[in-house]
Amino acid sequence: MIISTIGTGFIVDRFIEATKQVEGVEIHGVHSRTKTRAKLFAEGHGIGNYFTDVEEMLADDQYDTVYIASPNNLHYKYARQALEHGKHVICEKPFTSNKRELQALIELSREKGLFLFEAVTGIHLPHYKVLKQHLHRVGDLKVIQANYSQYSSRYDALKDGEVPNVFNLEYSGGALADLNIYNLHFVIGLLGRPEDVSYFPNKFENGIDTSGVCVMEYEGSIATCIGSKDTESENSILIQGDQGYIKVNGSANIINSIEIRTDGHDEKIDLGQHENNMVSEVEDFKEIYDNDDYQSASGWLDHSINVMETFEKARESANILYPADKE
Ligand SMILES: NC(=O)c1ccc[n+]([C@@H]2O[C@H](COP(=O)([O-])OP(=O)(O)OC[C@H]3O[C@@H](n4cnc5c(N)ncnc54)[C@H](OP(=O)(O)O)[C@@H]3O)[C@@H](O)[C@H]2O)c1
Repeated sequence: MIISTIGTGFIVDRFIEATKQVEGVEIHGVHSRTKTRAKLFAEGHGIGNYFTDVEEMLADDQYDTVYIASPNNLHYKYARQALEHGKHVICEKPFTSNKRELQALIELSREKGLFLFEAVTGIHLPHYKVLKQHLHRVGDLKVIQANYSQYSSRYDALKDGEVPNVFNLEYSGGALADLNIYNLHFVIGLLGRPEDVSYFPNKFENGIDTSGVCVMEYEGSIATCIGSKDTESENSILIQGDQGYIKVNGSANIINSIEIRTDGHDEKIDLGQHENNMVSEVEDFKEIYDNDDYQSASGWLDHSINVMETFEKARESANILYPADKE
């Protein structure tokens, strides 16, 4: 798997470092809209090629996969372009702005026989996979409480009059899209698509959600997901059933350990993990790629569609609409 990247934020640094820990994955080139930044970014990672023009980058046949970490509203455009040029795609979360866009990408990837992956860390972590195996021990699952709160320096910028992309509706931003989406992935990975969803946001004056609570209703159980960029908190997840509960230490994208309490008995599972939480997803993508395992890839896409539908319904319930929704 040979990859070129779009975007020069810290997440691309982390992704590139993660690929170095997975055998058989290489980075061919990087893209930035600015030549100086593209060159510096490539040199900083010891990468030989850099591009300022996406079309030119996609026309290069020396690699086969594109990793996209642009602002959210551009994921669809860049992923579509990449697929049209015959490249596999690894796209950052949230996959797209809405379900319509994601469905179009999935159809195109199937037509072209290409892989389309969502780069969302939590659901690929070994602790998450182990948690799924132990879930039955809580009995009938009744309640999930998930909290992912991280005060953002970009919230200070917002209060100072700037509008960073992550707090801009034009860029498909907001706390639900940026942080709470991990909780949605976490819960939907366990319980599937909810029957109903409502989102209760704190909105800034430009209409963007800077924090909020998403309530997902299932038959017999309910999940409350907090995602906040305007407050700090201890991040954890509690999964409560009628026979016990599981506590996840850490946020939905960095699961440090799991504690299971049933019948007054405590058990802690701590497998240790990669310092770079993106390594596990790259390992999963590489395995699917090596085995031409379109069935597993399709399973991940079914999950992503459920998340995207829930995300869109949650936004609609709170009247958080993106330009892409009106197209
Ligand atoms: N998985 C994770 O843990 C994680 C963490 C953080 C972010 N993310 C995701 O990664 C993506 C990028 O996040 P970010 O915080 O870096 O976003 P950002 O600050 O909006 O940065 C966007 C990046 O996209 C590039 N870009 C390409 N075309 C652009 C355009 N037309 N307009 C503006 N920028 C353009 C910019 O690079 P140049 O200016 O050099 O072209 C810039 O580095 C988001 O989707 C976010 O949700 C994931």
